[in-house]
Amino acid sequence: MKVLVVGGGGREHALAWKIKRSPLVEKVYAAPGNAGIAQDATCVPIAPDDFDALTQFAKKEGIDLTVVGPEDPLCKGIVDRFESEGLRIFGPSEKAAQLEGSKAFSKDFMRRYGIPTAEYEIFDDPEKAKDYIKAKGAPIVVKADGLAAGKGALVCYTLEEALAAVDKIMVERAFGDAGNRVVVEEFLTGEEASFIAITDGEHIYPLAGSQDHKPIFDGDKGPNTGGMGAYSPAPVITPEVHHKVMERVMKPVVEGMKEMGHPFKGVIYAGLMITDNEPKVLEYNVRFGDPEAQPILFRMKSDLVPALLASIDGTLDQVELEYLPQASVCVVMASGGYPGSYKKGYPISGLEEVSKLENVVVFHAGTTLKDGKIVTNGGRVLGVTALGDGIKEAIDRAYEAVSLISWEGVQYRKDIGAKALRRLG
Ligand code: AMP
Ligand code: GLY
Repeated sequence: MKVLVVGGGGREHALAWKIKRSPLVEKVYAAPGNAGIAQDATCVPIAPDDFDALTQFAKKEGIDLTVVGPEDPLCKGIVDRFESEGLRIFGPSEKAAQLEGSKAFSKDFMRRYGIPTAEYEIFDDPEKAKDYIKAKGAPIVVKADGLAAGKGALVCYTLEEALAAVDKIMVERAFGDAGNRVVVEEFLTGEEASFIAITDGEHIYPLAGSQDHKPIFDGDKGPNTGGMGAYSPAPVITPEVHHKVMERVMKPVVEGMKEMGHPFKGVIYAGLMITDNEPKVLEYNVRFGDPEAQPILFRMKSDLVPALLASIDGTLDQVELEYLPQASVCVVMASGGYPGSYKKGYPISGLEEVSKLENVVVFHAGTTLKDGKIVTNGGRVLGVTALGDGIKEAIDRAYEAVSLISWEGVQYRKDIGAKALRRLG
């Protein structure tokens, strides 16, 4: 088979790396890919939202399966477009992808189907949003309705911050049209986890649990990012929590979407807040988590490709995925200034040395080649991912590799995995 991976981040590198190892696959392409993906796939310079060029390429090259990494093309209908041209593609339709594309849609969906989530209201008028915030008080969470690269949720600890958040989203329009509406919701406390499953619209196959680290600084301080590191498995997802999530969160979303006439195929990912073993949904995503895909796929022993095909064919009940017994940790190395503005183009040193380490893989996100050298080209730059016998060993191994890599202004969290260690005692 020939497989095309759409996207060019750490998640897409992990996907290309994993898919390349499938005995079913003879060639992997990535659009547009990056300097690291180029080591596992043939990169073609096509943007993920250029559906004309992507479908043309898929036909010309005889691509048998297309796998989409990021939410943007899914929310813009890449799956509908490929299917209308007779091409096989893994992922949800445009209508089904609204679960991530519109927080207002997603919250109303959860209310309708009784899925546990934070209390909320939706506003298209900033003054009304502010009145509601004043009535509710802080802490409170203000979210842009549309896609904002993981940065559109503003957790506000004071009333002033919350009122300013409404202005930032709706008046200053920091996230563009994504801020036409806001969702204002109850602040939840607890521990977060990512519950990611593959579904064919009927059956649900959960992947290994994982935990992301959204804020930029250690101790979960500072603004939210796309995710600064992750590990798998996540001890916070006990067998009891797993069962509750399947019954209250995953089955209802798949059944509800079918009932609404938008059957969901692809990856369904619930971002959870778990309080005293009770899960609530912070958000649904409609694709693999980034960075979560990196530790999950690194410790997946089975071939992923049959599961992707089964999602398309409706035969996911026949699929079983096995994992290595080890734990896996991914530390994201980012550009100085991220998630705000940052400079690109700094040469990265140490990659050669790290490539010799066992049980470590460096997935690339924002990297490119300049004059034959790998240089930084984005906010999140690398996902340094390691396996270990237990989370402690995986953490130590990942940070050992991180210590060998550098560039001007590099930043990364020093506490990835610390929560799992605390929980395991
Ligand atoms: P979201 O994009 O909706 O997943 O939000 C991004 C991040 O903001 C989450 O991973 C949480 O860390 C935080 N967050 C979102 N909603 C809430 C909430 N209702 N209570 C507390 N924290 C939240
Ligand atoms: N790591 C968070 C996300 O993929 O949305």
